[in-house]
Amino acid sequence: MKIYEKFNINVVFSEDLIQKRISEIALQISENFKNKEVLAIAVLNGSFIFCADLLRKINLKTTVDFVLLSSYCGMKSQYKVNVILGLKENIKDKNVLIIEDIVDTGVTLDFLIKEVSFKKPKNIKTCVLLNKKTSRKKNVSIDYSCFVVDNSFVVGYGLDYNGLFRGLPYIGKIEGSLSNE
Ligand code: IMP
Repeated sequence: MKIYEKFNINVVFSEDLIQKRISEIALQISENFKNKEVLAIAVLNGSFIFCADLLRKINLKTTVDFVLLSSYCGMKSQYKVNVILGLKENIKDKNVLIIEDIVDTGVTLDFLIKEVSFKKPKNIKTCVLLNKKTSRKKNVSIDYSCFVVDNSFVVGYGLDYNGLFRGLPYIGKIEGSLSNE
């Protein structure tokens, strides 16, 4: 029995659907950035799996950097972003693609866009796996979005609940209590 099977998780986006959608988005990015080099900046921890799959499907010269930001505690956004690990790459005059797992209030993405802009890139585009449109506090620009989700809390494919469930190959909602954790 797989370890997460004891939890009641309702699949929202299956593994196949996720991979199919990422291929479509990767194709769009490859066409839009044709003949250009792209610096991908992925937000840890949540986007590590998405970033790995997306970059392998993008047909461009890419480099990658990671930032570790935290704004969530359990199932609640804290509206304040902490930088735990910052940018290391030189960003000036580069075509930056920010890769984020999920945009909820928009506070994290807004913060990162401002941090990156400050370093004078040539341009900044954003690519998100999930767009939770209903709880926005900051008006952020999203250039590529794989899926729109409602306001419920989802896990899997990099997304966690208190650090767990990131390794699920699909995205789902946890039903009921987590007491048998
Ligand atoms: P925001 O700053 O409120 O937009 O939140 C963005 C961050 O909150 C994401 O990078 C995730 O780490 C986390 N987050 C928001 N919603 C969820 C969810 O449904 N599941 C897991 N993490 C979430």
